[in-house]
Amino acid sequence: MQVTVVCEISGLRKSFRTLRRGPVVAVDGLDLVVHRGEVHGFLGPNGCGKTTTLRALLGLVRADAGIMRVFGEPLPERLPHVVNRVGAIVEAPNFFGNFTGFQTLRLLASSVGIPDARVHEVLEIVGLRDRARQNVKAYSLGMRQRLAVASALLKKPELLILDEPANGLDPAGIREMRELMQSLAANGVTVLVSSHLLGEVEQLCDTVTIVSRGRRVHTGKVADVIASQSTGDVRVLVADPEAALPVLAEAGLEAHRVNEHIVVPRMNDPAFVTRTLGEKDIWVSELVQLKPDLETVFLQLTGTAPVAGRYPQVDDSVRVPPPPLPVSAPVAETITVTPESGGPA
Ligand SMILES: Nc1ncnc2c1ncn2[C@@H]1O[C@H](COP(=O)(O)OP(=O)(O)OP(=O)(O)O)[C@@H](O)[C@H]1O
Ligand SMILES: [Mg+2]
Repeated sequence: MQVTVVCEISGLRKSFRTLRRGPVVAVDGLDLVVHRGEVHGFLGPNGCGKTTTLRALLGLVRADAGIMRVFGEPLPERLPHVVNRVGAIVEAPNFFGNFTGFQTLRLLASSVGIPDARVHEVLEIVGLRDRARQNVKAYSLGMRQRLAVASALLKKPELLILDEPANGLDPAGIREMRELMQSLAANGVTVLVSSHLLGEVEQLCDTVTIVSRGRRVHTGKVADVIASQSTGDVRVLVADPEAALPVLAEAGLEAHRVNEHIVVPRMNDPAFVTRTLGEKDIWVSELVQLKPDLETVFLQLTGTAPVAGRYPQVDDSVRVPPPPLPVSAPVAETITVTPESGGPA
């Protein structure tokens, strides 16, 4: 199968002049590649430059340096040539509260010559058909988000770019949004989605780019990114852990207890553990190769100290609350809007 690059960013840089903080480097040589048919997660802590990157890609802010291509066309120069193939929600859309969902979409559609039939289709796709005759002011946040996605789908885009689409949604709304993106991807739409919700990205995305301070720190398939950060620790359950520990120590393994289990760090030969214990009549009733989840990997890669002994997908009992993410100062209080930026991100 031929893999086609749909979106490619290389060495993107963007800084802003601010009154209080002086020049702020929002994006610092960022690289990102999205292939056709992927749901690609764009992950990073607050203020690491996700929104700025997406705005630069869409021509909403002028980059200082770097190369951007969508469908092979250099941006922003050739934006008019690809704009009909891209749907995006990067700025939170404002809808007229007194318009119905249908009227809202029809207004947008008719302004670019899209027929009403497509409006009905997108309402169906986002699950708003039954609420289409209701005023938008009566919509929940989740419904407004889906209306926004519907507006981005009007042109039948091949690439959909969404900046934090699950922001502020409750678990049911997040799930609906996830299912919507999955069904769009199943129908051939490539999705580039920024998010803070790591569990969500783990469930939703095929591939990720993890960003820290305006630079890519990792990219690849979600499973590979997680595996690359795996320590290879193995967890073993035996009837008498106190009897097993000295046996493992004698075999040269530095094992330790975690609750009723024994953890053998950096063990690339799990069979050696079972054999060593079995030779002393200590029988292993469970052996699990511990893997971090995306949240743990994210915290490691973005510079927050790894949390020892934290293997959420296997055993919640060893969970330790993660340290807070590095949070930048609130944007609204600190930024000066530069002429080309058009407003705070
Ligand atoms: N218009 C602007 N003027 C000045 N500084 C800006 C502007 N837009 C963004 N910044 C700064 O650039 C940096 C990156 O911001 P950006 O909004 O791109 O980050 P983000 O990754 O989207 O963050 P979040 O996760 O909070 O949405 C931040 O330090 C932010 O304060
Ligand atoms: Mg943002």
